[in-house]
Amino acid sequence: MSSSLQGRVAIVTGGAGGIGAATCAVLAARGAAVVVADIDPSRARAVADGLARDGHDAMAVAVDLAEEASVAALFEATVARYGRLDILDNNAAILTPDLARRDLDMASMETEVWDITFRVNVRGTMLCCRQALRIMEGQGAGVIVNTASNLALQGNVIQAAYSASKAAVIQMTRSIATSHGKRGIRCNAVLPGLTGSAAALGNLPPRLIEIVTEETLTPYLGDPMDIAHTVAFLVSDEARYITGQTIVADGGTSIHIPGYARLAEMVAGG
Ligand SMILES: NC(=O)c1ccc[n+]([C@@H]2O[C@H](COP(=O)([O-])OP(=O)(O)OC[C@H]3O[C@@H](n4cnc5c(N)ncnc54)[C@H](O)[C@@H]3O)[C@@H](O)[C@H]2O)c1
Repeated sequence: MSSSLQGRVAIVTGGAGGIGAATCAVLAARGAAVVVADIDPSRARAVADGLARDGHDAMAVAVDLAEEASVAALFEATVARYGRLDILDNNAAILTPDLARRDLDMASMETEVWDITFRVNVRGTMLCCRQALRIMEGQGAGVIVNTASNLALQGNVIQAAYSASKAAVIQMTRSIATSHGKRGIRCNAVLPGLTGSAAALGNLPPRLIEIVTEETLTPYLGDPMDIAHTVAFLVSDEARYITGQTIVADGGTSIHIPGYARLAEMVAGG
């Protein structure tokens, strides 16, 4: 059993972003040919060019996950270039500063915020899964990782649309694992906690970052490479018995009662 991805073809959506670019780099370093798919063509090209300069096989494709035809074109371009698809990392999500500011609680929810969040995060992920499954069914093999979030497991006073969209991604993951396991296709969800991408650190309220950092059990916040390595494991043959799972990579943020540090101080103080 090996962690090598030599000879595999991978699509990483949102491949120009913080976690996406790190994942492209790790998959390429393990031997995969990587399709860097993003709504931002110039950043996607920069990531693909960087990989090519390091001697890897990479191609940038501009895609808008909100548009069905654009998603279809991404998969067509991949098969036209490589003839197959072994790995789909559904990493893209819409995380603009404007949405972060407007996505609050359910009582104040703007329908537009809900719709655009679901259009990209849920419908876009579904469109990519559907395209990938049609190719992978023909091959009798393939692996999908869907990016959710630990916020899909926890209630919060903000990010109600985002959290609900990520919960939908988890259930989509279980459906695919169940319907396609016998056809040689595995599907898992990775649930990052707060991860030091520029998008997360730039868009989230500083007080939230402070609170989450305090509640993270590791002495550090995760960075994009931590998620990239988790994805690389899940798509490798080493993970061949893992499917339909939600793999939380959040430094233990979501597994304990809140305020544990204060409780520890209380216990230490007798
Ligand atoms: N960073 C965190 O703290 C954190 C925590 C939990 C989950 N996540 C998840 O990890 C993933 C990556 O997050 P990140 O922090 O790297 O964010 P990021 O903003 O750096 O990356 C997201 C990428 O998706 C692309 N994108 C947005 N809309 C798109 C669309 N319609 N079509 C195609 N591409 C589109 C963006 O251009 C961007 O490059 C997301 O799914 C996010 O929800 C991140």
